[in-house]
Amino acid sequence: MKVDGKHFRSIWRERDGWSVGAIDQRRLPHDFVVARLTSCEDAAVAIRDMLVRGAPLIGATAAYGMALAMREDASDAGLKRAYDTLVVARPTAINLKWALDEMRTALAPIDPVERAEAAYARADEIVEQDVEINRGIAANGLALIDAIVAKKKPGETVNVLTHCNAGWLATVDWGTATAPIYLAHERGIKIHVWVDETRPRNQGASLTAWELGHHGVPHTVIPDNTGGHLMQHGMVDLAIVGTDRVAANGDVCNKIGTYLKALAAHDNGVPFYVALPSPTIDFAVDDGIRDIPIEQRSGTEVTEMTGRTVDGRLETVRIVPEGSPVANYAFDVTPARLVTGLITERGVLKPDRAALAAAFPERIAAAAE
Ligand code: MRU
Repeated sequence: MKVDGKHFRSIWRERDGWSVGAIDQRRLPHDFVVARLTSCEDAAVAIRDMLVRGAPLIGATAAYGMALAMREDASDAGLKRAYDTLVVARPTAINLKWALDEMRTALAPIDPVERAEAAYARADEIVEQDVEINRGIAANGLALIDAIVAKKKPGETVNVLTHCNAGWLATVDWGTATAPIYLAHERGIKIHVWVDETRPRNQGASLTAWELGHHGVPHTVIPDNTGGHLMQHGMVDLAIVGTDRVAANGDVCNKIGTYLKALAAHDNGVPFYVALPSPTIDFAVDDGIRDIPIEQRSGTEVTEMTGRTVDGRLETVRIVPEGSPVANYAFDVTPARLVTGLITERGVLKPDRAALAAAFPERIAAAAE
């Protein structure tokens, strides 16, 4: 997508052909800084410290991390070490393990001398595949938006609510939840996005608002508690969120607070869609609420906030009394019954086992291996 008219992706191979460039998302929206990753450890730290974040981008970064590792040590032991280092970088987004499994499957059978080149080739494919998948999500989600336009008076604005950042910054390009939004905008449909700020890290306020704004998509940032009120007053036509892992039964794990939005949408008859690329489905997990591991992050994300002061300095301040304990669960699980549909690259699916299995039979087979 575009940053002030110039096309960017969130991650890329640098001109030297081997190092990896990525937008440092910890610095947005205040500074646009590109980081250069030159080792497997750099990739692991980038994922762990959230220089890159968002399930599909975590997967893409891990794939390049494996390629960087193969330059350092392409032996069987090196392959295992790289896998083991990267797979634990963050626990909830399943795209991380998916990408690493793809890389290992491609690399394990070949001669170590050829592994580095093969690793870059496979990582590039994973990156391109992410963009293609998101284009599919865009097209399938656009049909839902078109249907709303047809129901409303022609020319009226479609209001979409989203949570966290499932935008192009969370993927390689297009985003998942934002893909239909960008396509609708491109097609001249009047679209406006309610952007949940998404405490505690504020990925909505910092990242989604930044990317929509720089691409020219009308949007409004709202405190997380506002969505229910907007829905009660007919100000939300549909919600589209992303996800970090979808269980085989259709339960959806996404950024903390998603469940509450789904409850509000259900109570107000607002369609609640989840956009996902197929690598986000975890057929090995039968019950999302019971079995998806929920990352718990540092309490400082809750106790502190960073922002720009009026005189232009970046400053971090404490907003919780000294000594008050805090809890920081990074994700929650929305039960399938509250999800209207799953927008995938293979169509809009019912959030249930049968629909997921019918749409992605090859993933079922892989999970059974
Ligand atoms: O903790 P993060 O920022 O990596 O969280 C992931 C997300 O960005 C969201 O949960 C998102 O909605 C799903 S990723 C497309």
